[in-house]
Amino acid sequence: MLSLKKNVFAAVQPSGTITIGNYYGAIKKWVELQDKFNCSFSVADFHSLSIRQTPKIFNQNILRTCACLIACGLSPQKSTLFVQSDVAAHAELSQIINCHLEFDELFNLDQFRFIKSNYAQNLVNSAIFTYPSLMAADILLYNTNLVPVGEDQRQHVELAKIIAKRFNKMYGKIFTSPEPLVPKTGSQIMSLQNPSKKMSKSDKNELSRISIFDDENTITSKFSSAFLDSPDGKLSKDALNNLAQIYFCATGKKIQMEKDHKIFKKIIAKAVYEDLKPIQENFSVLIKNEDRIKKCYKEGSDKAKITAEKTLKTVKEKLGFIS
Ligand code: TYM
Repeated sequence: MLSLKKNVFAAVQPSGTITIGNYYGAIKKWVELQDKFNCSFSVADFHSLSIRQTPKIFNQNILRTCACLIACGLSPQKSTLFVQSDVAAHAELSQIINCHLEFDELFNLDQFRFIKSNYAQNLVNSAIFTYPSLMAADILLYNTNLVPVGEDQRQHVELAKIIAKRFNKMYGKIFTSPEPLVPKTGSQIMSLQNPSKKMSKSDKNELSRISIFDDENTITSKFSSAFLDSPDGKLSKDALNNLAQIYFCATGKKIQMEKDHKIFKKIIAKAVYEDLKPIQENFSVLIKNEDRIKKCYKEGSDKAKITAEKTLKTVKEKLGFIS
């Protein structure tokens, strides 16, 4: 039977421990969307390979990310959960998309320009450059209507939309046009140390982020060292807004500023820990049973392959490949 529900697709890279940036900007919203939409969520391991990985750690990160998504509340019964590299169609469609993109369309993207100017040249490989084509393939394979992402990924989803239009114009209707779904609050959780920088899994400074697995003491001490006043003693509005946003994401409530900043930070730390505690408890049970996690994701990729291969077949037929 044809589903009338809209299709949702989103993914997270297994490139380290998930942060509250990922959780509040994306994953917590995905959990809500599962009941309303036809959702597919992927652990985007091909994407993570654009940064050099140590095989053993990479393997563990993929598995832990799979478990973490379930621990956060994604349900293998309600949604299709899968690992990207299990569905070969992603790599194949990405190659086809690359042949339809101009160099400058990739070169001018904010994220690429940021990486190029902030990372050592030997770390900027060609996959970082073509990364948005793979991301467009991820999205377009699943007839996706909505892509729930944080603000940093909006531009990539807009590019996927341009690609969908381009293919449909050149070859006749193939792809559904995707729209980014960016939440009002939580879409840009900033570093605790520098409110002009995004909180990131890969920031060298551990104090900049709260990992979803940080214990209560670590969370309290990271918040207590969070930047709030500039050296001249002035309260930083951006830092304050960031902390207030984090509190809102954790509790659904607005916070009143306390005169005593230590108390203010302690209130936020406690709220975040209370929010993360059930996830940590779920995770500690799940991670003991690797076979069960792998089985969930294997079933998910079997389901994902049906749609992905069908879309890819249509693309190849429309483009003139022989089958
Ligand atoms: P990734 O793994 O960096 O992040 C996963 C999701 O978390 C969001 N996010 C944030 N939101 C708010 N504040 C932050 N500090 C923050 N940091 C990360 C991201 O916007 C994202 O929604 N390229 C993607 C993964 C991907 C994907 C896709 C996403 C691959 N294919 C197809 C959507 C559709 C990425 O690197 O996300």
